[in-house]
Amino acid sequence: MNPVDAALRVAVLVSGGGTNLQAIIDAHSRGTLDIEPVLVLSNNAQAYGLVRARTAGIPAKCVPHASFPDRASFDEAISAQLDTVQADLILLAGFMRILTPGFVAKYAGRLLNIHPSLLPLYPGLDTHRRAIEAGDAWHGSTVHYVTEKLDGGPRIIQGRVPVAQDDDAESLARRVLAVEHEIYPEAVRLIASGRLTCRDGDAFLDNRKLDEPLQLGEFPTLSAT
Ligand code: GRF
Repeated sequence: MNPVDAALRVAVLVSGGGTNLQAIIDAHSRGTLDIEPVLVLSNNAQAYGLVRARTAGIPAKCVPHASFPDRASFDEAISAQLDTVQADLILLAGFMRILTPGFVAKYAGRLLNIHPSLLPLYPGLDTHRRAIEAGDAWHGSTVHYVTEKLDGGPRIIQGRVPVAQDDDAESLARRVLAVEHEIYPEAVRLIASGRLTCRDGDAFLDNRKLDEPLQLGEFPTLSAT
């Protein structure tokens, strides 16, 4: 998509509550995120994210994974929906299905995920408990491009929170979620403005390779652009 021609067409995949989806919706309705939300998809009919989408007037569909014999046919069904709406960018936002290499390759450079840890620390599940048990002073979340490696694609932006003495996984998760609601819209804003791209498996900001992810709060020009 050429950003001067039309707004970036964004689809969001959710499995649950969808507070990150809501952060994208809110930024868009406030006028601080120049995108066109074209579709919200879930594998779970009960996902509250579907309600959030419909409330915001965004087309919302459920593609139940249990109705498909294998991952590949489920991914093909999702892909057909994304192609019908001509999605330029696909956001995984609490989407709890592992995608096939074929799906990931098809949308390479156009597929983003948000993961609740300071990657490369703690890929996979249960990240808050693992950070507490390791005695980490800091925890947080990372927005990254999706590659075949689980939670391992080029990192774009991180938000950090200090781990408090009396934190449990739940209290820490609440604070991490708050920074997620800032970093996901920021990452999408950078892509929508044409400043952030992914080429040959690397992320580039303003045509410079992003060796380390941006840090929320340490990149003052982010919101101004
Ligand atoms: C977030 O913590 C995100 O990092 C992880 O799943 C959670 C989704 O939360 N991938 P929500 O559904 O957006 O509230």
